[in-house]
Amino acid sequence: MPDLAIADLHAAYAGRTVLGGVSLNVASGDVVGMIGPSGSGKSTLLRVLVGLLPPVSGLVTLDGATVDYRRKADVRALRDRLAIVFQQYNLFQNMTALENVMVAPVRIRGRPRTEVRAEAIDLLSRVGLSERMNAYPDQLSGGQQQRVAIARALALKPEILLLDEVTSALDPELVGDVLDVIRGLAAAGMTMLIVSHEMSFIRDVASRVVMMADGSIVEEGRPAEFFREPQTERARAFVGRIRWHRD
Ligand SMILES: Nc1ncnc2c1ncn2[C@@H]1O[C@H](COP(=O)(O)OP(=O)(O)O)[C@@H](O)[C@H]1O
Ligand SMILES: [Mg+2]
Repeated sequence: MPDLAIADLHAAYAGRTVLGGVSLNVASGDVVGMIGPSGSGKSTLLRVLVGLLPPVSGLVTLDGATVDYRRKADVRALRDRLAIVFQQYNLFQNMTALENVMVAPVRIRGRPRTEVRAEAIDLLSRVGLSERMNAYPDQLSGGQQQRVAIARALALKPEILLLDEVTSALDPELVGDVLDVIRGLAAAGMTMLIVSHEMSFIRDVASRVVMMADGSIVEEGRPAEFFREPQTERARAFVGRIRWHRD
């Protein structure tokens, strides 16, 4: 049962504060939609959580156990439990889709190939790529590559999946398939922190919306209420500028 608690987290780049005290709890099965203007610190928060940027101060606990980001062992243990997918999917170009999904469990975990292979085939079918398992990244569309990247992240069986604008680099017609995969994960109970500009998607899929601005959380709420009636001036201005797609 992942219970991620973030308390008063501060982070900085070269001495410049970019997270000024973020507190957030993520319970098992939560789908947290993180929104907010560009530069508000959403990616930085995810990077700190997975140990890519050491926090300046603050407390992160997983199931009640404090994560000490200065300890390599803590960060390693954390990466068994949290997986992140970026906007840039960065697949290994010299490996097929299947090999990309298999590589971490086999090489990092040292698990048996046959077992890992069966799981990877399963994962690729979950992201709708059964037919493309043996394709190399350059033979796949951006949306297909991003779905391989999601399968690759799931291959280590994370308890929490962090998604950082995974559809932002895709051609519009490829976005839907990737969002469908994420919707499927949410329906299956995957705990997720989703940074996205796809507002109607967030409104539909998130159990909670968190809005950041200037390195802090400015408002948090249930999606229907947040988008209908934001409470703070900052959130009202942001929501007011959203262009909703007509279905
Ligand atoms: N690698 C970096 N080095 C220095 N500053 C950075 C770096 N990455 C992000 N920043 C700065 O940190 C702030 C927060 O950025 P970021 O977390 O990427 O915001 P968001 O993901 O919400 O767009 C911004 O002011 C950005 O310019
Ligand atoms: Mg970002």
